[in-house]
Amino acid sequence: MNILELQHIEKIYGVKENQVRALHDINIQVKEGEFVAIVGTSGSGKSTLLNLAGGLDTPTKGRILVKGKEIDSLSRKELTVFRRRNIGFVFQSYSLMPVLNVYDNVALPVTFDRGRHVDHKYIEELLRELGIWDKRRKYPAELSGGQQQRAAIARALANRPAILLADEPTGNLDSVTTIEVIGLLKASCKKYSQTILMVTHNEAIAQTCDRIIHIEDGRVLGKGFVRKHFFSGEGGEVPC
Ligand SMILES: Nc1ncnc2c1ncn2[C@@H]1O[C@H](COP(=O)(O)OP(=O)(O)OP(=O)(O)O)[C@@H](O)[C@H]1O
Ligand SMILES: [Mg+2]
Repeated sequence: MNILELQHIEKIYGVKENQVRALHDINIQVKEGEFVAIVGTSGSGKSTLLNLAGGLDTPTKGRILVKGKEIDSLSRKELTVFRRRNIGFVFQSYSLMPVLNVYDNVALPVTFDRGRHVDHKYIEELLRELGIWDKRRKYPAELSGGQQQRAAIARALANRPAILLADEPTGNLDSVTTIEVIGLLKASCKKYSQTILMVTHNEAIAQTCDRIIHIEDGRVLGKGFVRKHFFSGEGGEVPC
């Protein structure tokens, strides 16, 4: 089943002479449980794509279906609830609340949802799995970058989202922590049957994903292929 479908998506920012066409006729289908890497040079449209897929912004043209539901057809209020229940975001800047400790940061998205109670057992499981249970009473400023990113991942997973959208989640991390964080994302993808779309500039990481989508100038390059020279400087396309 396709958990996410982007059909003929176009995104134009600005008006008149300030117009920027960020995405042109993007068609992407993502199956449940897939771990997809999104690669492309700076300004190619990767973050725009992720923001549209997660309903943080709206396309100029085209349809986006999440779990078969057209998200554009939802009212603002419905979309907020739908997003909170189905989609988790991890950004490069960890965007944790500085005045809340790790535990409360992670539980925050659940407490927003009035109809739901906080599943403390699940939050404990997440924090233990991500190796930051002993940091639960610390504030973001007291943590390393890797620990903050783990807290941000735990927060993104707190509502058990079907889809996790991660925009360069390891961009600020050293190589050892990067490998750890990617391992945790993969484990979570498997354990909680999640689908992950992750923007990355790291070739080694992209190559370990189920699929690589290469965006250039707002267009998807090839189909299931990535241009080798994007990473290695060589020409030609390689299957991925
Ligand atoms: N809010 C905005 N208003 C106007 N133009 C924008 C806006 N956001 C992005 N753009 C433009 O859209 C294009 C795609 O931007 P986007 O942020 O999606 O690229 P990206 O692939 O994520 O780049 P990077 O790797 O540097 O993060 C760029 O030309 C950018 O300048
Ligand atoms: Mg970006």
